[in-house]
Parts: sequence; C-alpha cells; structure tokens
Amino acid sequence: MDRYEQVIELAKRRGFLWNSFELYGGTAGFYDYGPLGSTLKRRIEQIWREIYVIQEGFMEIECPTIGIEEVFIASGHVGGFSDPLCECKQCGEAFRADHLIKHIVEEADGLSNEELDSIIAQHNVKCPECGGEFGKTYEFNLMFKTQIGPGNGRKGYLRPETAQGMFVDFLRLARYYRDKLPFGATQIGKSYRNEISPRQGVIRLREFTQAEAEIFIDPRNKKHPNIQRFENTLLNLYSDEAQDMGESQIMTVKEAVSKGIIAHEFLAYQVALVNHFLQRVGISPDKLRFRQHRKDEMAHYAIDCWDAEILTERFGWVEVVGIADRTDYDLSAHANMSKTELSIYIEYEQPRMVEKFVIRPNMGKMGPVFKGKAKLIAEALKALPKEAFENDEIKVSVDGEIFIVPRDMVEFAHETIKVSGENIVPHVIEPSFGIDRIFYALLEHAYDEEVVSTKDSVEHNDEETRIVLRFKKEVSPVNVAVLPLLTRQELIEPSKEIANRLREKGLLVAYDDSGTIGRRYRRNDEIGTPYCVTIDYDTLKDGTVTIRDRDSMQQVRAEVATIEEVLYDMIYRDKKFETAGKPV
Ligand code: ATP
Ligand code: GLY
Repeated sequence: MDRYEQVIELAKRRGFLWNSFELYGGTAGFYDYGPLGSTLKRRIEQIWREIYVIQEGFMEIECPTIGIEEVFIASGHVGGFSDPLCECKQCGEAFRADHLIKHIVEEADGLSNEELDSIIAQHNVKCPECGGEFGKTYEFNLMFKTQIGPGNGRKGYLRPETAQGMFVDFLRLARYYRDKLPFGATQIGKSYRNEISPRQGVIRLREFTQAEAEIFIDPRNKKHPNIQRFENTLLNLYSDEAQDMGESQIMTVKEAVSKGIIAHEFLAYQVALVNHFLQRVGISPDKLRFRQHRKDEMAHYAIDCWDAEILTERFGWVEVVGIADRTDYDLSAHANMSKTELSIYIEYEQPRMVEKFVIRPNMGKMGPVFKGKAKLIAEALKALPKEAFENDEIKVSVDGEIFIVPRDMVEFAHETIKVSGENIVPHVIEPSFGIDRIFYALLEHAYDEEVVSTKDSVEHNDEETRIVLRFKKEVSPVNVAVLPLLTRQELIEPSKEIANRLREKGLLVAYDDSGTIGRRYRRNDEIGTPYCVTIDYDTLKDGTVTIRDRDSMQQVRAEVATIEEVLYDMIYRDKKFETAGKPV
C-alpha cells in the first residue's frame, strides 16, 4: 500500500470519507464526507472564514449554484472552459490528452490539440485500459448543462466556480461597501466540473467545494495597506524564471516584490495570506510552494497567477489554491453583456481643473430651421465627440430620426471646468481555494506510523504499530476524548458530566467507554484526537483526571474543577501540555 492507499483506507474505515453511491457501485468524481470528515472539513472552512471574513473583512455572500447562460457566456466559460479529450477507438474510454503525455513532456498544459495528437502518435501512446489506439483530440466543455424550468425553459449551467456570483453582484456589493476600494466578498460553496477522467480521489472531483475571495482594487494603486504584516515572511517561490532553472527559491515577501518576482504588493500580500492559512491548518511548510503560471497556461481571465502547490506522495505537486490577478476582465465582460456600467466613482483628493472641449449650438440659427426639434437636436450635438465636427455637415440622431446640421450652426469653445473624480473599473485579485484538495493533503501530511513501546502499551500488552493523525489541535474533528477507565456506573456518571462540561465550553468531544483503555487511545490516535481524558477511581477520591497527549503519549494528572479551561487553552491558546497538571 502506498501512502495514498493508507490514507484513504483509514479515511474510509474511520468515517472521514468514502465514494458516493457505494450502494450502487459508485461513480467517479464524487465523494461523501462521513461524520469525522464533515467535521474536519467544517473546521478548515471555519478557519478560512476567520481569516478572510472576520480578519480581512471580506463579507460572505451566497449565490445560486446554478447560473443562467448569459453569466457564463460573459465569463468566457461557454466559449473556452474546456479540456482536451481523446477517446480510445477500441474500448471507448475517455482520457485527458494532456494527462496521457505527462511522462513525455513536462508542461503539456499549453499545447494545441494538433500538438497533443502528434506527440501521442510519435510516442505510440496507447489506451492504458485496453492498449487500443486513440482517436483525434477535441475540446470538451467541462460545465454541466441544465435547463431552468419546464418545456423550452431557460438554459443554465452548474457553476464551475463560485467567483461569478461576486462579479454579477458587483453593484450591490459596491453599495454595501459605500463605493470605497479596496473591498472584497467571499463565498464558500459547491462548484461543478464534468472532469474527463477523475481518477485521483478527492483531488479531482466533479462536485467540489471552493472557498473564493474576489477583492476589488483600484488599478492605479496596487500597494497593500497592511503589507508590513508579511514583509519578512519567507515564501517558497517557483516563479516563471525559476521553472526554467528547475529550482524554487525561498525569499521574503519584501524581496519578492522589490525584485519584481511577484508583480505587486497586493498580489504578494494575498500569496502570503494563503501561505499563512495553509500552515495554520496544518500543511507542512517543507511540502508547500507557490508556482507562477507560465504565459501559455494562464486562464483566459488572468494576467498573472500563482498556484499554491502541495507535495503529495502519489500525485507529486498538486495545486490547491490559485491566486490570480483577473484585472478588469470579468467586470468589463459583464458590463458588455448586461449593457450596464460596472464601475466605481472615485473622488480625487483635490478637485482638478480640466480643460474641456465644449459645443455651443447656435439656437438663433437652429430654431427657425428645426423648429420644435431644435432643443433635442442641440442636446444630441453636445453629446457628440470632437471628431463628429470635422465635416461641413454634422449628422445627428434624435428619436431614431437622422438630422443634418450645417457646421456654421455650431460654435466651439474650450472651457476650464472643475472635475471632482472619475469612474474606474476595479481590478480583481482572487485567491481561489479547493477545500477538498486541502482536506486530502492535511490527512496525508498528518498521517504517521510508529512502533510503540510505552508504559500504557506494555501494561496493556498492546505494543504495535501506532497510526497517528497529527492534526493541528484546533483542526482535529475531535478535540477531546472522554474515557471512563472501566465501564462501571460510578465512573460513567462523572465521565459524562465532564464530557458535557467540555461540550458547553464549545469543544468537540467524543465519549467512549468500550474496549480496553489502550485500544481506546489507539482509536483516538488514529482519528487525530489531541487529548484523552481518563476518569478512574482516583478521580472519585481526589478530583483529578488523567490527560494524555496524543503526540508524546505523556500523561499528566489535572484538576477536574478547571478541566474545561485547561483543555480549551491547550487547544486554542497554545498552553503547554506540561503545565496542565502533575506528570504521571
Ligand atoms: P487543475 O489544473 O488541477 O484542473 P484548475 O487550474 O482547473 O486545477 P482552478 O480553476 O484554478 O483549478 O480552481 C481553483 C481551485 O479549485 C484549485 O486550486 C483546486 O483546489 C480546486 N479545484 C479545481 N478543480 C477541482 C476538481 N475537479 N476537484 C477538486 N478541486 C478542484
Ligand atoms: N475562480 C477560479 C477558478 O475556479 O478557476
């Protein structure tokens, strides 16, 4: 069994995760989260919310997961959101053509379908399932299409990203934030992609959870007001240039910006924030890097993009977050499609005096000629650009009727006017997280096996390989296990009382009274429970319990009276285990 299989076996056995529709044989690209998996996933999402919604102030919104066709025509997904598909002529199995040649060319992302076909032919690549030949590669759109309403209902799509909701709601969001840039909005929710051949567990799903922030910034000011927070943070950067050399570079955020490796402060801050989040939830820093997209692999909407990639044993480096500079692509596209201006009026610090070309229709001359329409024609003339007055006659349209106005009926002047501000289309910086991939990476990075020979294992004749999920304490789906030493009423009652007090404190508690204490410790190690509290006969005498630490397997004797504060502080406030009570 490789590490992936070990992790997935444990995940299925202990209620983290399993294939959806198992009862009917399952189908690729869908996974169910079980009781511990759902809880772990929520913990990751809660920490994400704490950082992005509470600390950064990017309020969360919730939009439908089905979108109308116009949204995805404007966004470019109807036209361009596809992967190269090739099918085996013999067994009909479908594959992503770029994935088939990954072992031949390092970067297959930007190749055309013709190039892919020619590499497949040159290297005699055959169907991995049956050895058959492949047909020609063609583009397969990844969106799930649907129909909204019966009969000839409106065309719709399941959203392939949560981002579009924030763009479509731009005007309402701008009003909420009182038209002050920068501002951001977030969404955590399901996205759908009809992936061609999802053979990588939760790494490639057809329904998955994204957590995205769309941050609207003033394109003339890409400085970040809080950059000093991360200036000295070290990042492992695999820039476009570094990829040519084949080696990533570790440098501070400050250095990355000053050397122009990350294009601007605002983007750099977001890269550093992703780094902070991933390490806080438990990704090993030495298995994390930020890879810049090469020019030919950039998404259609981005001018710069950095992927947070995590090293996994079976799949190598896996993208878990994309941090993109989407410029004004989306707002401009939706403005065009909806015929609505999507911009923000920005007031200058000081009003500016601007010289302006103005048109002054001569009403004395126009009145007798155009009679009742003269006023409307004059207004229409004022709205024309300077170039419209280059000929002797000026054509102007009023209520669908074209009027020809001789040039001598119009006078021109330059006026100096006071301008207080201008309309600008904000640019968007977007960190886009795939929660399922982070979930898997956490399991893999937390997974550990060790042969144990400790006091409790020897005492209970339980020396064996111990599987431990070394989750961060605040992330564990169970914070504390409460275990009566024996299944006796006099121990069960105080145990349940302690469990209730811990729950009231907001801790995730598992009460377990079945099996030997050694087995119960192992079971909790396997699901990553950081602390086990054991209630024994001494508890009844002196009001103390044993707290066992998952990682060191050390035990201390702590007071029942303050047990909830002590555990809470160890889990959320970095209180040291050694200070929780007397060593046993
Ligand atoms: P890939 O190249 O691996 O298909 P992508 O570049 O298409 O990924 P993005 O479009 O940038 O991914 O999506 C943002 C994030 O959403 C990704 O970093 C990833 O974590 C997550 N994601 C995308 N597609 C899937 C999927 N099919 N299953 C699970 N998570 C996904
Ligand atoms: N919102 C970025 C993506 O999902 O592609």
